[in-house]
Order: sequence, then structure tokens, then C-alpha cells
Amino acid sequence: MSGFKALRVHQAGKTTEARLERIRLDDLSAGNVVIRVHYSGLNYKDALAISGKGRIMRRFPCVAGIDLAGEVEDSASPAFKPGQPVLVTGCNIGEALDGGLAEYARVPAEAVVPLPAGLTPFEAMAIGTAGFTAALALRRMLENHQAPELGPIAVTGPTGGVGSLAIQLFKRQGFAVAAITGKADTAADYLRALGADEVVERQSLDLGGKPLEKATWGGAVDNLGGDTLAYLTRTVKPWGNIACIGLAQSHELHTTVMPFILRGVSLLGIHSVECPRPWRLALWDKLAGDWKPRDLDKLVVSRVVALEEVPAACQEIVQGRIRGRTVVRLAGG
Ligand SMILES: NC(=O)c1ccc[n+]([C@@H]2O[C@H](COP(=O)([O-])OP(=O)(O)OC[C@H]3O[C@@H](n4cnc5c(N)ncnc54)[C@H](OP(=O)(O)O)[C@@H]3O)[C@@H](O)[C@H]2O)c1
Repeated sequence: MSGFKALRVHQAGKTTEARLERIRLDDLSAGNVVIRVHYSGLNYKDALAISGKGRIMRRFPCVAGIDLAGEVEDSASPAFKPGQPVLVTGCNIGEALDGGLAEYARVPAEAVVPLPAGLTPFEAMAIGTAGFTAALALRRMLENHQAPELGPIAVTGPTGGVGSLAIQLFKRQGFAVAAITGKADTAADYLRALGADEVVERQSLDLGGKPLEKATWGGAVDNLGGDTLAYLTRTVKPWGNIACIGLAQSHELHTTVMPFILRGVSLLGIHSVECPRPWRLALWDKLAGDWKPRDLDKLVVSRVVALEEVPAACQEIVQGRIRGRTVVRLAGG
């Protein structure tokens, strides 16, 4: 192979720069499976890494992209054979290992998931880490006895990738969903089309309240952290669960023990990067089967971009100006 296109992030001093360049397989971090990448996708974390707004990467230069789907080009692992369709999400690619925003990737076999029947590589990247994380939240909440009878699930950051797919997943399981958004004026139709029963303007919430407020939500999926997550701890009903996923607003959390000791509320940590492999395989099977999101191409994917367009798309993501998922086409026709 003579060389291929990759979006690599370099760091010099405090300056981070993403460059589209030609590299060779030998330039990539070690791994026993080489994958021809058909599609990747953009997550908030990718946007932080590529724009330099967040410290995501642990070595430089590093090919960006925490997600990829494609076909095996070459494998030194007996678990995979050339031509086999596969996907990778998380597992430290695009952070400590070279990632999916390149025409070829080389990764450890333990990170590679056989593409389940029922998903195309495009659909796998329309779901990506965002949908996988929403599914992990659903799984953990169901395991901790979240039930539709308890009340509506509040989803914050609902126009984003995780939020959009969380609305669909919870709705399909029979939950009512309230989308708490900063874009109530422009995105209400989109959120209702995904399945939201209620659209709440985030700016209308009382974020400086007492240790406990009126119990309103059966549970919550939180992508924001900070004051919004603190508000959720005060307003989730007894025995409800809050899946703590993101920090789009803040990495801080100031609350009291009251929701946990007087209402039995559970705060469930969600960590998609290093989720145990048996859970990962089982969740991708669900996402290809009875949990498969509907209308991925018509509704959830707002745009498909080329590698060259990724840095500009990342600026929009960090500014919170996107909707749904952005898929990146590499060799996907
Ligand atoms: N724990 C894990 O394993 C895991 C996995 C994936 C993602 N995450 C994290 O989850 C969060 C969401 O990820 P994503 O890929 O869905 O991101 P995304 O597509 O960029 O969506 C984030 C959404 O959050 C809201 N938002 C953005 N900036 C904001 C700000 N400054 N203040 C308040 N709200 C803001 C916006 O929704 P509205 O305008 O509708 O309010 C935006 O659409 C990120 O923090 C990401 O790092 C964690």
C-alpha cells in the first residue's frame, strides 16, 4: 500500500492542529487487524480533539476518530478474515491509539466487533459511539429497575447524537420522553419526530433550587453535567435512575446527598470507551435488532461529509450548532 489519507492531530507546545495528510500503515499504532474504513462518524469528543478545545488525545501525532466501520483488509488474528465487515467504537482509538478518520486503520482484535447482520457500515456509523452510549444507558437503567410506570425520562442535550438516539431507544421501550433542550424554538419538530412527548426549554428550568424539588421525572439521561445534572438529581422521582453521560455544559457537579438518601435516586456512570467486551457485543446485537433506531438516514443523520470537511464540522459541534449525527464517508461509495 503506497499511502493513504488520514486526519492527524499534531501538538506543538499548547497549539493543536489537525492536518489532512498522507501516511503509511507503518505510521499507525500497533494492532493485529487492518481495516479499510468505509465510514466514520463525529462525536463531541472528536470535535474537542480536532478543534483543540479539549484534552482528549494522549499521544501526538494521532489519527482522530473514535468510531469506524468498514471491512478487514488483513488480519493476524484468527478471529477475523479479509473481507469481513466490522466496526470499532471507543476502545481508546482516536485517543491513545490511531483512530477511524483515515482510509485505513490498524487496531487490536479485542476492539473489533463483527458487523452484526441487520446493520450496514453506514448505519453502524449513524449510530456510532453516540447510539452505543445511549444503549448502554438504557441497559444500565433497565437493570436498575427503571420502568415506564415511574414517569417520563428527561433527556438533556437532546438534539445531539447521544440525545437523539436516546429519545428513540427509550421511546421504543415504552417510556414517555421529555427533551430538555437549549433549542426549543428551532428543534421542537425534530425532537417530536424522534419520539419526544414533551419539549422543555432548558433556559426555563430553575437551576439554583433547594436540595429537593418537586419530583417530576421518572429518570434521566444527562449529556450536560453541571447545573443541569444537579437539577436532575433534585427532580427525579423516588427510585429513579440518572445516566451520567456527558459534560457538554460542565464537568462539575454540585448537589447534596438528599436525592440519594431521601428518594433512593441512583446516579449511574456510563463509560462507553472501555465497556466490557461481552456487553459491547450484546449491545451491538440489540442495536442491529429490536433496538435498531428508525429513520437513521432520513432523520438522525443530518449530514454526510468528506474527510476534508471534518475540521469545519467539528467547529459547529463544539459550538452546539449541530443536530443529530454527522457521518464521514471514507470509502463508502
Ligand atoms: N460517557 C461516555 O461514554 C460518553 C459517550 C459519548 C458521549 N459522551 C459525552 O456526552 C455528551 C454528548 O455527546 P454527543 O456526541 O451527543 O454531543 P453532540 O452531538 O455535540 O450534542 C451535544 C448536545 O448538548 C447540547 N449542548 C452543547 N453544548 C452545550 C453547552 N455549552 N451548554 C449546554 N448544552 C450544550 C446541545 O443540545 P441542545 O441544544 O438540544 O440542548 C447539543 O446538541 C458530550 O459531553 C460527550 O463528550 C460521553
